[in-house]
Amino acid sequence: SMKKIIITIDGYSSCGKSTLARQLASRLDYVFIDSGAMYRAITLYFLEHKTDIKDEKAISDALDQIRLEFINNGTPGQSDIHLNGDNVEKAIRTLKVSNHVSDIAALEAVRHFAVSQQQAMGEKKGIVMDGRDIGTTVFPKAELKIFMTASIEVRTHRRYDELKAKYPDISLEEVKDNLLKRDLIDSTRKISPLRQAKDAITLDNSKLSMPQQLDIAAGWAEEILKGQLASKI
Ligand code: CDP
Ligand code: CDP
Repeated sequence: SMKKIIITIDGYSSCGKSTLARQLASRLDYVFIDSGAMYRAITLYFLEHKTDIKDEKAISDALDQIRLEFINNGTPGQSDIHLNGDNVEKAIRTLKVSNHVSDIAALEAVRHFAVSQQQAMGEKKGIVMDGRDIGTTVFPKAELKIFMTASIEVRTHRRYDELKAKYPDISLEEVKDNLLKRDLIDSTRKISPLRQAKDAITLDNSKLSMPQQLDIAAGWAEEILKGQLASKI
């Protein structure tokens, strides 16, 4: 059978990483993992249990109580995140979670908890994982690393379009502020900050449609898979 690779997609908030990762995984028949969903689910738990994030013991006790699973949601190749047995795929996308997640994702114990589980999921390869530190910290030896970017205006409009059904009063300004604030925390934190891996290919999708970005990324994956195949012959 064909050799499988690991594909990482990192970048700033709301440029379309998860969308591309999901579609790429489906085209290659790989597993898609949204690592951000794990940090969001941990954040949801901390908020619900009023975990004091200045207290290391409270953080480690809370993490001991958290079980995360990605479970197929009926569509082939698509999974929802479950927190201690509950499907929280929708509950983790609230503004409240978005406003706290970057502070919680910066905690050393939280990163250790999430990264070790992410690495275990990639043991058999055949995985597309998106996030902030996937190509740098989680899978530094991944065969294909993509760093996605898009202008802040484009990213704001994309996230605004998603949120306005749920939050009719939301403003573009509020969405933009949240994206910029998270980008700043994510790229300046001490432990595995968001940065482009040296061997990552940049994909600016400001002016690309979803099918266009998929074709580009799938082309890169194909080249790598062919290269590996050729070197085996
Ligand atoms: O809202 P968006 O889809 O852009 O973000 P996300 O991928 O759901 O990630 C939410 C937050 O989790 C990010 O802003 C980061 O603070 C954190 N995160 C991280 O620290 N490392 C990752 N590999 C993925 C997400
Ligand atoms: O994972 P990340 O936060 O980077 O972004 P996402 O949740 O995959 O995408 C944010 C939104 O942008 C989604 O609603 C996508 O449908 C949309 N999108 C788009 O309109 N055009 C693209 N080329 C890529 C994504």
